[in-house]
Amino acid sequence: MDVHKLLEDKKCGRDHSEREIEELISGIVDGSVTRAQAAAWLAFVCVNGMKDCETVALTRAMTESGSMLTWPGIEGPFIDKHSTGGVGDKISLILAPVWVALGFKVPMISGRGLGITGGTLDKLEAVPGYRTDLDQGQLRGVLQEAGCFISGQTGELCPADAFLYGLRDETSTVASIPLITASILSKKLAEGLDRLVLDVKAGSGAFMKNRTRARKLADSLVRVGRGAGLDTSAHITDMSQPLGVAVGNALEVQESIDILQGRGPKSVIDLVCLLSGDDEGARAVLSTGRAYEVFERMVHAQGGDLAAGLRGSGCTVEVVHAGRSGTVTRCDALGVGQAAFVLGAGRVRAADPVHHGVGLEVHAHKGDTVTEGQPLVTLHHADKGLREALEAVRGAITIE
Ligand code: URA
Repeated sequence: MDVHKLLEDKKCGRDHSEREIEELISGIVDGSVTRAQAAAWLAFVCVNGMKDCETVALTRAMTESGSMLTWPGIEGPFIDKHSTGGVGDKISLILAPVWVALGFKVPMISGRGLGITGGTLDKLEAVPGYRTDLDQGQLRGVLQEAGCFISGQTGELCPADAFLYGLRDETSTVASIPLITASILSKKLAEGLDRLVLDVKAGSGAFMKNRTRARKLADSLVRVGRGAGLDTSAHITDMSQPLGVAVGNALEVQESIDILQGRGPKSVIDLVCLLSGDDEGARAVLSTGRAYEVFERMVHAQGGDLAAGLRGSGCTVEVVHAGRSGTVTRCDALGVGQAAFVLGAGRVRAADPVHHGVGLEVHAHKGDTVTEGQPLVTLHHADKGLREALEAVRGAITIE
């Protein structure tokens, strides 16, 4: 491979062949392509883009840079979902057991949060003992026992993505649709799936701030996923306001448990049912508790102890009340997310700890009628960031 030619081509907006992309990714993983060359290539892709056929080749090459999970002897179909993330997004915790109760297997490799709120793994680690570092043999055991697992990326999965994602962060090349597409799909292809459902969020609390950008990403993910041979579909859903009531790690686990036990906010239930692809079936397994039984089995198989109570208890509570009567016309996801962040629910660097107990309960959403003095938001804090969080919450909600 002539790396200089490849760089020259992408700098001038010329396409790569499948073979060139495979060689580039191999070179990145074995170190024969230098960090500087990889960074320059990312920058050229960011500016000049890639055709779908190049993005399919990149996705495949990144998947094949590591080992792939396979499930011989376990009956499928194998399904998973990926969300581009948002404030109060606890859907994975509920949808995985719902799908198992509907007859699917769900091998879900998930991530930690970087930014305003914790990720799915941070949330589940609010359950004492819950392990998110299972190796391939353990993942298989949990899948056999519970029908699903939710665990972290093993070192062997998609090393090319781990390298490139870090480099993109360093070089301001994250916001490129082909690079995002290949990064998300390469990890999902490595799970050995039959079907993938994507939840692409649009709004202030999301990676994509408006529907036009979200639509572009959703279209790219679906075209490239299908091009790589995976049955892929996508929904674009609202992230202009927080999803559900709970925002914060343990609070979101508790809300998920409530929903799995047949209670909880309608907005979250409706989204789970939509993404499940079987509205009636999903409602039935939620209301009968069958999905909750699966959740209990998964948590137990991953070492978690639900009876021990959730981590992060003992926070102090502060309530923000409505200053006037009227209709809530704005409940800004970003503002609420920033409040959760300053309280300690999120992190800036991967190695930073998160506080499991802090966060917010958002009692009023867009369109709700409120009366003066009514509780709008309950903050759970651990003596850090309360003043800024109160300011962020007050700025996030408009009553007219
Ligand atoms: N999530 C990923 O896994 N990769 C990206 O590039 C962006 C979001």
